[in-house]
Amino acid sequence: MDHAAFRALAPLCWRAPSAHNTQPWRLRYEPGAIHVGWDPAHTLPAADPTGRDLRLSLGAFVESCLIVAADAGLRLEYVAEYDERHHRVGRLRPAPHRYPTPFRIADVWQRRTDRGTFAAAGPEQDTLATLDAVARQAGGGVRAVPDPDRLGVLLRAADRRVYGDPTVVAELRRWLRLSPTHPDYHADGLNDRCLALSRPAATGLRAALAAYPVLRPLGLPRLLAAADDPLARGGAVLVLVGPADLDRPGQVEFGRVLLRVWLALHTAGLAAHPLSQLIDVAVTRTALGALLDVAPDRLLHVTRVGRPTRPAPRSARRLDTV
Ligand SMILES: Cc1cc2nc3c(=O)[nH]c(=O)nc-3n(C[C@H](O)[C@H](O)[C@H](O)COP(=O)(O)O)c2cc1C
Repeated sequence: MDHAAFRALAPLCWRAPSAHNTQPWRLRYEPGAIHVGWDPAHTLPAADPTGRDLRLSLGAFVESCLIVAADAGLRLEYVAEYDERHHRVGRLRPAPHRYPTPFRIADVWQRRTDRGTFAAAGPEQDTLATLDAVARQAGGGVRAVPDPDRLGVLLRAADRRVYGDPTVVAELRRWLRLSPTHPDYHADGLNDRCLALSRPAATGLRAALAAYPVLRPLGLPRLLAAADDPLARGGAVLVLVGPADLDRPGQVEFGRVLLRVWLALHTAGLAAHPLSQLIDVAVTRTALGALLDVAPDRLLHVTRVGRPTRPAPRSARRLDTV
């Protein structure tokens, strides 16, 4: 197996998305295979206690590796071998054929989360049908929330709950890079530019979070929840729905589906802005399930989707030299 050829492509694979941009994946090169696993130090035990977003991110990384390798002419396949104890999801190994995918390296490289304003016209019906078909191949589906305006109340409720939890806020602070002077600004986490924060807004947020223990009882969570209204920046809200009783290895597989959905959006000129808090918080998850008439535990991912009005900033990566 040509490890050197794959190593040269690794920075492209690193463009995979991950919750809080922790880039939790790890590769171990062994004769005949490249093992994909994760580093528990780069997971989100407070914000993602079930590990759902960790596994979706790992699946997105696996799919990125397969697409990048295929487009570079490397014949690789993925064998799932989920092992919670050893923090492994599976391995890449030589295959007789290239991985079949409609996506190219350029798609993986150029896709980005866009938290900005979307144009008035949302995704077309046939794009929604294409996305749904991508998920259906794996036994899931993509559903549009019928009336996104009704989500505003749910989103504020979810945000208040998230900002009201000191452990979740402490963890978020660990991954925020609100000033270019942060030592990891160019390596990982969520920076001010990607969060679409002006310099004063970034400074204000930094100060508010630093004073969190004092300000929390005085209503800071409510203030932070009210400070941003992503739904006002346009777009449709789509939900990735999985099959009933999806197990942990199945969630990794759906991370692969999630990446395919995002790349299908990207190639249609659209971008995604996830709103995971809606399904992280039990009460809003239940309400969203009721809105869609889907069992709440089948909701895997929620995202605002639309046509960008300007290019979104590129997020940081720990491995960034191609
Ligand atoms: C499973 C998953 C959950 C995510 N949840 C959120 C979210 O709730 N809010 C948000 O703004 N971004 C969310 N993101 C987007 C990540 O923050 C983003 O992928 C990361 O910062 C890297 O940026 P990029 O997508 O532009 O490459 C999520 C991404 C993944 C894969």
